[in-house]
Amino acid sequence: MAVGKAGERKLLTGKCIIVGVTGGIAAYKSAELVRGLVKEGADVHVIMTAAAQEFITPLTLQTLSRNPVITDMFAPPSRWEVEHVALADRADLLVIAPATANIIGKIAAGIADDMLTTTVMAMTGPVLLAPAMNVHMYENPVVQRNLRLLQELGYHIVEPEEGPLACGYSGKGRMAPVEKIIARCREILTGGDLQGLSLLITAGPTREYIDPVRFISNPSSGRMGYALAERAAQRGAEVILVTGPVALAPPAGVKVVQVESALEMQAAVEEYFPAVQAVIMAAAVGDYRPAVKEEKKIKKEKDEVVLRLVKNPDILAGLGEKKGDKVLVGFAAETHQLAEYARRKLREKKADLIVANDITNPGSGFGTLTNAVRLFYADGREEELPLMKKEDVAEVILDRVLELLKSRKVG
Ligand code: CTP
Repeated sequence: MAVGKAGERKLLTGKCIIVGVTGGIAAYKSAELVRGLVKEGADVHVIMTAAAQEFITPLTLQTLSRNPVITDMFAPPSRWEVEHVALADRADLLVIAPATANIIGKIAAGIADDMLTTTVMAMTGPVLLAPAMNVHMYENPVVQRNLRLLQELGYHIVEPEEGPLACGYSGKGRMAPVEKIIARCREILTGGDLQGLSLLITAGPTREYIDPVRFISNPSSGRMGYALAERAAQRGAEVILVTGPVALAPPAGVKVVQVESALEMQAAVEEYFPAVQAVIMAAAVGDYRPAVKEEKKIKKEKDEVVLRLVKNPDILAGLGEKKGDKVLVGFAAETHQLAEYARRKLREKKADLIVANDITNPGSGFGTLTNAVRLFYADGREEELPLMKKEDVAEVILDRVLELLKSRKVG
């Protein structure tokens, strides 16, 4: 989805959104959020907890939302006792920003003791949480458990970002930028631009076993593939993620198929290939495997061991041979002659797009959170992206896959 670009159209016209504000220092940012949602055409109703009012005044949010701000369950007019149900019924979305550890814990525990929590309880539509807190609070296993639980129950979460925090610490806990929260609201309410699409994404390294306890592998973290899978699912796609062993949590709403070797990855990819419209091969597939996998652990009896390796099948090239009108995307990690090798991969694997990165660049490649990539298209076009977070690179790749699929339909 074109984040930002879509903002030029009023995509939220006719949508009723409740903005819940809780008591964190990021509460001042809720003013921007309310303003942004109103600008997009939404009918915004604000509910503030008592603590939130210590940080920002109801008057500010009332002025910006152009609706009365609800602050207390028992204050007159007493019709508010039923109002929370009426508002919850009417709302297309409830977004809590900032969401403190306290409100997250209360929702996870099913507590409904004020206007906001009772409204959450009465909501049948989607609820989006934008957590914001001190890094140690955010990392606290109880908070993490609560967030996992809520995600499993279908709550949407827009993760906090890393950076300097108001408490003086630096780390993950800063509320996601307002534009990002609005983009998520749009995605939730407009169904996502990848709805109806099935994508097959591979991620992580492969393990080529030498004996039962030793293998050849590479340092791929799986982050790029997982970011692609997570974002594609958020944008409404049906996603099958075939993944080598990584230390990442499975993205919500994604079908995950765990594999180890290149041959296992190939088998899984071949199995799901007929059911998808596009494949993104972000996995770092081992090019070679030991010719023989010893059944028993090799004992250190000899002074020298010779390991014979044989070539693994090229999974992407195999798909290229029978692609039909499917879109195929490959990755190329290079240390030199990037453009030349990327174009060769494009040709040899019959891919539509190769995402190439120079792994000698700081901030790019294995194990990093960011990536600076160049995109090479089968029709000869080229596109260079700046250094971006892997999640943002993922969004652009998905945008391009969608464009390629659309142009195919038209052409
Ligand atoms: N790939 C694959 N099957 C393999 C090897 C790679 O499908 N056996 C895919 C990767 O997932 C990636 C792209 O092909 O999308 C990478 O191409 P590859 O030629 O393997 O790149 P390198 O490993 O960097 O190859 P080389 O050593 O030739 O540069």
